[in-house]
Amino acid sequence: MKKFLNIKAAMIKKNLVILTGAGMSAESGISTFRDSGGLWDKYRIEDVATPEAFQANPKLVLDFYNARRKQLDDVEPNRGHLILAQLQKLFNVQIITQNVDNLHERAGSKSVLHLHGELTKVRSTRFPDLIYEIGTKGIYIGDVCEKGAQLRPHIVWFGEAVPAIDKAVEISSKADVFVVIGTSLNVYPAAGLIMYARPEVPKYIIDPSSIEIPSGMNFTVIQKKAVEGCKELEEWLKKNL
Ligand code: APR
Repeated sequence: MKKFLNIKAAMIKKNLVILTGAGMSAESGISTFRDSGGLWDKYRIEDVATPEAFQANPKLVLDFYNARRKQLDDVEPNRGHLILAQLQKLFNVQIITQNVDNLHERAGSKSVLHLHGELTKVRSTRFPDLIYEIGTKGIYIGDVCEKGAQLRPHIVWFGEAVPAIDKAVEISSKADVFVVIGTSLNVYPAAGLIMYARPEVPKYIIDPSSIEIPSGMNFTVIQKKAVEGCKELEEWLKKNL
């Protein structure tokens, strides 16, 4: 019996939880938000990423997301996305992403929780449970759901609730390893997830900039871009866990 239990224990994969932000997709050619030249240098958040903006100028908002959605046709997952997908062989990998692109899924990651919505989905403005997968097509004024209400991007705008946050907290609290990649940790509640990882679990942050982490949280800093950083992380994980 003892032998069987040991084998069984060895087969239970550890929970590798990875919180990603725009920097994860930067090497795929998708702009981040707050780096110089980022999206918020070109657009004002209040003009394109709030419910009030959509109310005031729906065409501008739809065009903004149509352009970002169309860009998905021209980009590919980078090596960092692919490494995270490969790690599913060794770990129960759960990705919590602030990104609205589909690069984690296209790289082969199976468990991806989108905190801020998904570019390839749209939903009814009046019946929010009516959500439609549209790939990289555009939506326009007059495009309506099956009940006749205008469609909108299935994106969490500033000021809107983050429905997936409770699930994200639960996942983070069960992490055996917690990794943060490519986020300035500027936006809550996503940024607050680092507080839910148990104190004793190994934590890593991969980012070319130096990101402010609350003191005493024992993060190992890999101050590199996502592709290089994920290679280093993969080596460490294979050696130590
Ligand atoms: N590899 C890894 N990280 C990178 C790279 C790269 N190649 N290039 C830039 N970064 C880092 C930057 O140093 C920064 O810390 O990615 C981070 C990007 O930060 P933001 O632009 O603020 O993006 P993010 O943290 O994802 O923003 C969070 O804000 O606007 C909202 O909803 C939007 O989900 C977004 C949220």
